[in-house]
Formats: sequence, C-alpha cells, structure tokens
Amino acid sequence: MSNPADKILSFLSKHKDSYTSGQAMADSLGITRAAIWKAIENLRADGYDIESVKATGYKLKGVPDTLGEREILPGLKTGVLGKKIIRLTEVDSTNTYASKLAVDGEPEGTVVIAEHQTAGRGRLGRKWVSPPGLNIYASIILRPKVPPRDAPLVTFVAAVALARTVRGLYNLDAGIKWPNDLLINGRKSAGILTEMSAEPELVRHIILGVGIDVNMPREDFPKEIKDISTSVMLELGRKVNRAELMRRFLEELEKSYLMMIDGRRADILDEWRSLSVTLGRNVRVTSHAGEKTGFARDINTEGGLILEVDGKEETVTSGDVGFI
Ligand code: BTN
Repeated sequence: MSNPADKILSFLSKHKDSYTSGQAMADSLGITRAAIWKAIENLRADGYDIESVKATGYKLKGVPDTLGEREILPGLKTGVLGKKIIRLTEVDSTNTYASKLAVDGEPEGTVVIAEHQTAGRGRLGRKWVSPPGLNIYASIILRPKVPPRDAPLVTFVAAVALARTVRGLYNLDAGIKWPNDLLINGRKSAGILTEMSAEPELVRHIILGVGIDVNMPREDFPKEIKDISTSVMLELGRKVNRAELMRRFLEELEKSYLMMIDGRRADILDEWRSLSVTLGRNVRVTSHAGEKTGFARDINTEGGLILEVDGKEETVTSGDVGFI
C-alpha cells in the first residue's frame, strides 16, 4: 500500500468525519499537491465518492462496492486475519483455490475472495449459489497449532463471529442454527464450510469458507430455497456495503479465533449457546444416517447437538436442522 492513491484513501478513511485540505494531506503524506489532485481524480474514476469543498478540503463519502484490499484494509483492526486479500473476479470455489495456496505455504490469515463462484460448494455435498457482484464468497487460511480433534471448533468460532457482525452492524435479529448456519429473522443468510488438512497430531491448515448472502434479491434464490433463505439487504430494506461487512467479520472472527487459540473452548460454546436459535426447540435433524426428532437440549463440548428423544438423551454430530 504505497502508491499515492492508497495513501490518500487510507488517510481519508481515518478522517471520515472531517474535511482535510490538500495541503494538510500533502504535508502529512509527503506527496505533492499535484500528485494528490491526480490521485483523487483516479480514485473518483474507480468509483470512490470524494467530496471537495473549496477552501475547506476533501472528504470520503463513499467507496465502491468491490471487495479488494483497497476497500477492506483501510481501518481493518486485526493483527493477522485479512492482512492479505486475494480478490478474484471468478473462480470455481474460493475454498479450492485457498486450499491450493495453503498447500504451497501461504501464511495464516490470507483471504481469498471472489465476485463469482462457478462451482461454489456447500455443506453435505451441496452446491452454494454464487451469482456475481452481490454477495460475499470468502475463504480464510488458518493454521492453528491444535490437534485435529479441536479443528471443528473453528466453525463455531466463525458462526459466532457472523452473528455478532450482523447484529452489531445492522441491529438485525441474527442467530445461529446448529451447527453453523446464520439465520436472520428465521431465514438462512450465510453458511460456513471448513476443510482441514492435518497430520495425525497436528493441523496443517484449515480453510474457513464463508458464503454470505448480502445484496441478493429474492428472485435470484433458486426455487427450492426461496422460502427458507434471505439476504442482509432483504431484511434491512437497503443495499449494504460488502467491504464494510467483510471488515467487521474479520475483526469479530479474529477475536473469537484468539479465544480458540487460548484454549477457551467453553467460552466459545457459551457464546454460541447465547446466539443459538436451535436450543430449546423441537427439531428434526436430517443426516446421511436418517432422521431424528426431539427436543434440542444443548450442545456438548465437541459441538454435537444433544436431543431429548422420548425422555432419553441422544447426540447427533452432523445433519440439517428443521424446526417442528
Ligand atoms: C453451507 O452449506 O451452509 C456452507 C456454504 C459455504 C459457502 C462458501 S462460499 C465461499 C466458500 N467457497 C465455497 O465453495 N464454499 C464456501
């Protein structure tokens, strides 16, 4: 981030609430006023809304709805996650792409984001609908120094972070459906797919894939899931800036991820419980093993769902929850 446009953008993002004169920016950034003027013109051509008021200065009023480093990094308060962002216009699946990078040694924290996935993958071998330009399709490379049995906790970490993000930014009623679907007002609006590579005793890497339906209009959802799905835009009643959402998610994710690294499993699961919309309800869990109905009592320390079935406790470890 060293060219004049990036420096100006970073400066204006930090001073979003006031006007800064060209001279003050020139002095602070060590670039000429002519270079500032030129860079601002270029930024405007790229879709940045930079207001200029005579004898007062410049102010950043809006950023384009793209998901590159330029839009996400300014103001990002993380130590590791998202410090490098690889933005792709189109890819089969960001999880597949990130996984190849991880095998080649890409460090922890790198994020692969695509505008469009041609073969987006969901849980349980499903397809993830990924039309261009509307949503977030992202995969984050993680390298926690934990044994493979602890890795599934990452999906709980991510679900908590997603729910916190949507509640915090938009004040929407966001909750988690076991194991890790994000529901807004009762409808699914995001999902998580984690994939791990490990040795017997140690995780090599985890690819944390997140799909968030952000600005998806109702008509873009396939018929089969139209009634049970939603997007942030549909629930909020306005389009939202995807970079801002992604930035907040990375910040929330890092907070929860550090809890995991510190061995605070119980705290993560407690937070998951407090954001859960599954516990305390009668549910039907469908999995490869068949169907089970019961009262969702709790989750165990591994994240399995404890059901009360005919007065006895039974635990399920994977599947899809439906409410009854
Ligand atoms: C689910 O079924 O709920 C999980 C959906 C996960 C989708 C995301 S989009 C980014 C990443 N790349 C993929 O192919 N899948 C995940």
